[in-house]
Amino acid sequence: MTKHASDRLDIVFADFAHALNPACVVLASDGVALGKTAADLDKRSGNGIQKAAKAAAFKAKSKANIEILAPQGLDVDRLLVLGTGKDATEQDWTLLGGAAVAAISSRKVKKASLIADVAATGDMKPAAIAAALAFGAQLRHYSFKKYLTKGAATANGSDDKEPADKDTLDTLVIHCADPAKAKAAYAYYQAVANGVHVARNLVNEPANALGPVEFAHEVEKLKKLGVEVEILEDKDLEKLGMGSLLCVSQGSARPARVCVMQWNGAKSKKARPIAFVGKGVVFDSGGISIKPASGMEDMKGDMGGAACVVGLMHALAEREANVNAVGLIGCVENMVSGSAVRPGDIVTSMSGQTIEVLNTDAEGRLVLADVLWYAQDRFKPRMIVDLATLTGAIMVSLGKEYAGLFSNDDKLAEELQAASTATGEKVWRMPLDKSFHKLIDSKNADVKNIGGRWGGACTAAAFLERFIQKDTAWAHLDIAGTAMDSTRNEISPSWASGWGVRLLDRLVADNYEKSEK
Ligand code: BES
Ligand code: MN
Ligand code: ZN
Repeated sequence: MTKHASDRLDIVFADFAHALNPACVVLASDGVALGKTAADLDKRSGNGIQKAAKAAAFKAKSKANIEILAPQGLDVDRLLVLGTGKDATEQDWTLLGGAAVAAISSRKVKKASLIADVAATGDMKPAAIAAALAFGAQLRHYSFKKYLTKGAATANGSDDKEPADKDTLDTLVIHCADPAKAKAAYAYYQAVANGVHVARNLVNEPANALGPVEFAHEVEKLKKLGVEVEILEDKDLEKLGMGSLLCVSQGSARPARVCVMQWNGAKSKKARPIAFVGKGVVFDSGGISIKPASGMEDMKGDMGGAACVVGLMHALAEREANVNAVGLIGCVENMVSGSAVRPGDIVTSMSGQTIEVLNTDAEGRLVLADVLWYAQDRFKPRMIVDLATLTGAIMVSLGKEYAGLFSNDDKLAEELQAASTATGEKVWRMPLDKSFHKLIDSKNADVKNIGGRWGGACTAAAFLERFIQKDTAWAHLDIAGTAMDSTRNEISPSWASGWGVRLLDRLVADNYEKSEK
C-alpha cells in the first residue's frame, strides 16, 4: 500500500565539478542573470543560453522555462533554463524544485542534473536553497499508478491514458556549493516529504482496499519509526461510550477503528503533549440521507484529515522532532443498510451529551465528537488541532485553495496563520459564534447534527465546539476543498494533495519544539 522506496526520487547533492547528466537544468534569475557555473556553460556553448533566451523572449520570470537541445560545445543533450524571478523565498524555492522536476519528467529521462549556483536570497543561504529545491523536487515526484497494469496501459487503445511506466526520472543530482551542508538541511525536508506522500497514498487509495481495519494496519507501520501505536476496536469503543462515532459505522459491514499514535520526542517524556485529531471516514455514501450518484466516488477521500494526521506523525517521528505529540483518528465507513443509523435517532456521545441525528450525511462531526473528547480526557493536551473533510459548504465559502480555520484561541490561530504563510498551505479564519450554536440546539436532545441551510461550515464547527472542554486551546481545519480533488500546482500533482502535513509540521517546529510546558 505504501509506495515502494524505489518510487522515491533519489536526490544526490554534488559539487559543481561533478559530471553533468545528459538532461540538465540551470537557473536564471530575473533578466536572465546567471550564476557562475551557468555562465560558464553559456560561455562554452558560444553564448547558447543568452542567444536562446533572446530568441524566445525569455526573461527568467519565476517558473518559466526554455529548453536548448544539443547545445554546442557541451556534453549534455538538453539544457533546461528555469527562471527564478526576483527575491525568491523558501516557498518559492520549493515550488521551483517542483517546476524543475515537472519540466524534466515530461522528457522521459532517468537521471537529471540541477545546477544550483545561486546567491543567498533573504535569509536563505545557498545550501538552504539547494535543500528547499530538493524538497520541492521530491514533493513533485509523485504519482498514484499502482492500479494501472502494464497490459492495460498499452492494450486498451486509448491515447489519453497515462501508461504505468511514464515517470522515468529516478535520480536528481543537485550541484551546489556545499553539498554536505545541503544534504544535512535536506534530511529534515525528506522526512516531511515522506509524510506528505504517506498522506497522499492513503487518500488516493480506493475504499475497497482501505477500510478502517486496513487503515489501522497502515498506521501500525509508524511503529518502525518509534511511534507508539494503539488500535481501539469496536468493543473498546463501546466500553468508552463512543455512541456518536459508532452510530456512523453501524450500517457498514466493516467495523470501526480508532488509532492512537504517540511520539514522545521531548526531553521530558511526561510533558503534556500537543494533539492532532483526524476525520477518517473511509467512504461516505451519506448513509440513509444518501448522496447523489454523481461524484460519490470522491468520498473515498473523506479520510483526508486522518491521512494528514498519519503523515504528520510520520514526519515528526522521522525527523525526530523535539516534542510530545499525539495523533488520534476515527476510522469508520458511512453506509446504507438495515442496521444503519436513521434520521431522528438519538445517540449518546462519550461526553455524555445526547445528539439528535437529523441527517446521516453530517457524519464527520459525529466521529470527531467522540475522538476529540477522548483526546482531551486521556491526554489533557496543551492544544488540539483537528482536520476534517467536513463540509461542502467550506468550498462555497472559500473555494478549493483555502482551508477554513476555526479556533477558540487567538494565539493558536495566529501560529497557524504564520505556518500557513511560510508553507503556502493557505488557511482563512472563520467565525465561531453563539449565533451558530443556537442553530444546532435541539428540542429532543442536547444538540442536533445539522444547523439548516446557512453557514454550513460554521454550524459544523460550532457542533465540534460542544465537545471541546473548558480551557482547551483548539483549532479546527475544514479541508474538504484542499485535501482531495485538489488544485494541482508545482509541488502537488495528484488528486490527493497531502494537504496539512507541511502546515502542521511547521506549526510544531516554529512553536512547540523549543519550550516545554
Ligand atoms: N464528507 C462530506 C463533506 C464533503 C463534501 C467533503 C464534498 C468533500 C467534498 C460531509 O460528510 C458531508 O456530507 N457534509 C454535508 C453536511 C450536510 C449534510 C449538513 C454537506 O456538506 O453537504
Ligand atoms: Mn457526509
Ligand atoms: Zn463525510
